[in-house]
Amino acid sequence: MSRTIALASFVAILALFTQDGFSPFAATAHAESATSASSSPKLDVPYVPTPQPVVDKMLDMAGVTKNDVVIDLGSGDGRIPVTAAKQYGAKAIGVDINPERIREAQQNARAAGVEDKVEFKQQDLFKTDLGEATVLTMYLLAGVNMKLRPRILTELEPGTRVVSHSFDMGDWKPERTETVDGRTIHFWTVPDCSQPSPEATICKIVKSAESKP
Ligand SMILES: C[S@@+](CC[C@H](N)C(=O)[O-])C[C@H]1O[C@@H](n2cnc3c(N)ncnc32)[C@H](O)[C@@H]1O
Repeated sequence: MSRTIALASFVAILALFTQDGFSPFAATAHAESATSASSSPKLDVPYVPTPQPVVDKMLDMAGVTKNDVVIDLGSGDGRIPVTAAKQYGAKAIGVDINPERIREAQQNARAAGVEDKVEFKQQDLFKTDLGEATVLTMYLLAGVNMKLRPRILTELEPGTRVVSHSFDMGDWKPERTETVDGRTIHFWTVPDCSQPSPEATICKIVKSAESKP
């Protein structure tokens, strides 16, 4: 009987952590961030690194080249910016609110020999200027993606590529979705909102949602 209760509790806890679609192993990271909350900044997303094969596929789907500026919002240990710089010669910027992550990321950039191409900023992603990005990468949460969506559509140049690990952007449907090792990756191109086109319909939807009280 007590085994049944224990199992039911575990399932309930897991359901809480996975309601946003985050993988179960995020529960560990979330618990870790909760216990160190007194010494750490408030996180909008727990720290869960993207596995390297998924990082590789994200950058491949974005078609990164040496001419790109890649911004990773919530950059963790810096693996996405470091890979963009090392494998593709791109300029890359990582933004994370947690100083511990920034320190790790800077060490990783040094170890990979790409310090000259990569910059890590300790910053709130909601206050980060996105305008410089030609490629935007994210492994955040569905609600955070949706909060960023109006800014992605207005602050980024048309043609900017956006890649998200796991989470989509609601009725802004991705152009491509791929799976690597059971992980989903979505890809979008920022449409030109000043020109009527099927792709730009999302701009109207977002604008009318914003104008509602
Ligand atoms: C799921 S991890 C992704 C790490 C990395 N991008 C990757 O894919 O391996 C999310 C990251 O966002 C950071 N984060 C959470 N809230 C943030 C905020 N408001 N501003 C900036 N970074 C934030 C966390 O510290 C964490 O490192």
